[in-house]
Amino acid sequence: MGAQVILMGWVQRRRDHGGLIFVDLRDREGIVQLVFNPAEEPLTHEKAHTIRCEYVIAVKGTVSKRPVGTENPSLKTGAVEIKVKDLKILTEAAAPPFLIEDSTDAGEDVRLKYRYLDLRRPGLQKNLIIRHRVCLSARDYLSKNGFLEIETPVLTKSTPEGARDFLVPSRLNPGHFYALPQSPQLFKQILMVSGFDRYFQIVKCYRDEDLRADRQPEFTQIDLEMSFVDREDVMGLSEGLLSHIFKEVMGVELKNIPRMTYEEAVGRYGLDKPDVRFALELKDVTDAVRASSFKVFSDAISKGGIVKAICVKGVEFTRKELDELAGIASTFGGKGLAWVKVSGEGWQSPIAKFFGEEDRKRIDSCVGARGTHPKDGSGDLILFSADRKEVVNTVLGMLRVFLGNRLNLIPKEGFSFVWVTDFPLFEYDETEKRYVSVHHPFTSFLDEDAEKLETNPLGVRSKAYDMVLNGEEIGGGSIRVHGQKVQSKIFDLLGIGKEEAGEKFGFLLDALSFGTPPHGGIAFGLDRIIAIMTGSDSIRDVIAFPKTQRAFCMMSAAPSEVDKKQLDELSLKVVKKE
Ligand code: AMO
Ligand code: AMP
Repeated sequence: MGAQVILMGWVQRRRDHGGLIFVDLRDREGIVQLVFNPAEEPLTHEKAHTIRCEYVIAVKGTVSKRPVGTENPSLKTGAVEIKVKDLKILTEAAAPPFLIEDSTDAGEDVRLKYRYLDLRRPGLQKNLIIRHRVCLSARDYLSKNGFLEIETPVLTKSTPEGARDFLVPSRLNPGHFYALPQSPQLFKQILMVSGFDRYFQIVKCYRDEDLRADRQPEFTQIDLEMSFVDREDVMGLSEGLLSHIFKEVMGVELKNIPRMTYEEAVGRYGLDKPDVRFALELKDVTDAVRASSFKVFSDAISKGGIVKAICVKGVEFTRKELDELAGIASTFGGKGLAWVKVSGEGWQSPIAKFFGEEDRKRIDSCVGARGTHPKDGSGDLILFSADRKEVVNTVLGMLRVFLGNRLNLIPKEGFSFVWVTDFPLFEYDETEKRYVSVHHPFTSFLDEDAEKLETNPLGVRSKAYDMVLNGEEIGGGSIRVHGQKVQSKIFDLLGIGKEEAGEKFGFLLDALSFGTPPHGGIAFGLDRIIAIMTGSDSIRDVIAFPKTQRAFCMMSAAPSEVDKKQLDELSLKVVKKE
């Protein structure tokens, strides 16, 4: 108290109380109240009349206790105010298009256009400060554990991570293009060949894919790779890294992270990124419904499909709400969504007539449905999907997440981590009519599945692992193939011919032949981790200058057309589609 201070910042608000003028002065640390008193500093007080929102000012004054009863406990500085002696207006400001407050009602387009103003809001400032602290803490942990941060090129060759590449034309090599890296995958493996046995990088990756709340065309990974390791080493190191970050930045102690195989995750939750914060698990009722005369089910089963169900406890959905659920099912490929209401009087459903008393009992017990609940006498709702296994799991998995949100089954606070392991190495791409890698083509397979490479490639499980947090995939990695022969075999299975392999990844195959240590690694989605830490709905809220869903920067209006001269230099011609 009584200290003389000089403060600079932005005017959040000016309140004229006849005599006294109060100004909230804002900087990235928060807000402090300034008081201009006409009885003490009449000239300064006069000047204070001219200041407006977002003016940048400097003041000289004395820190004083606020009069009793005027404290503001919701502010860090709410017990004090600054009695201003001198005021200097450093810069005037145009009236901002929206209020610089967390509860602003401006739409996202306007906020993104004026992102510099949006970023003045305390919530976004906090997010970027947390982002900085996460990076610092990751660097600190990895560096103390012997990792070196090494940069890999941005102008590079296409990396096969499964998305489309962003291409950059080369002026010096007309008709040739660099690809922006989808990840540093190939380069980090090559660093292992070079003997940098612990590498990491906080690195931008570029993927031209359809965007969603958790996807940006450029995003950041905490990427790492280690030599002479197996899965346990990489997973253990990853747990150490996340524990360190969450402890330092959030003050949260992480417990042992549970593990689940891909098969279990998909079986119980329908998805390979299970949100384990709530139950509502999928139950396989194929055997229980086998005897029924309901054609939709029997047809699906006779074609080799399955029937699964989820049982929603104590809900009363209207017909309209049930139709909405069926709509969601169809968005994810479901041909319908059969339902049964289980009440005190038994089953109510358009399909009830196809099921005998014994069938009904068997199904109720399989999914755990009850007619009445002790508290309010309400019943349960069983939702069924019948189709190919993949369709059933996706439909019910997505419905489960929807219902978890709709029915508030998901706790708001807390961090639920889970590892998902043993992914299939390949899946079959119906459109391309060939196997494709589930992770990427450099992923190794479980030793006990080696024989299946010849006999049953779809049955081969990989040494890949994903880290899932609150139902979002926040990281993924694998132990790599480190022998050139095995790598060529995998390219064969993927239908990547010798020539194509040589052309695309010849440099990696060459490198692998010169003494490659066994190695593996992982990459974490930094934006996603921070979005979850800060409770943000979208990763756009944790990136300083994000793009819209149309991959557009509202502020700088990129991408944009370029001069003909620039195109000529690059030997490019734009052909407009009709
Ligand atoms: P993967 O492709 O699984 O693995 O990516 C790793 C993590 O990056 C995040 N992520 C994204 N975040 C925001 N926007 C996107 N468009 C986006 N795409 C991915 C996810 C994901 O878990 N090279 C391998 C890693 C390895 O094998 O070591 C790779 O990139 O959180
Ligand atoms: P239908 O015989 O097509 O009129 O369908 C009867 C009921 O079964 C409706 O409630 C449909 O939504 C549902 N249904 C149809 N196909 C499927 C399916 N593949 N899985 C689950 N329910 C289905």
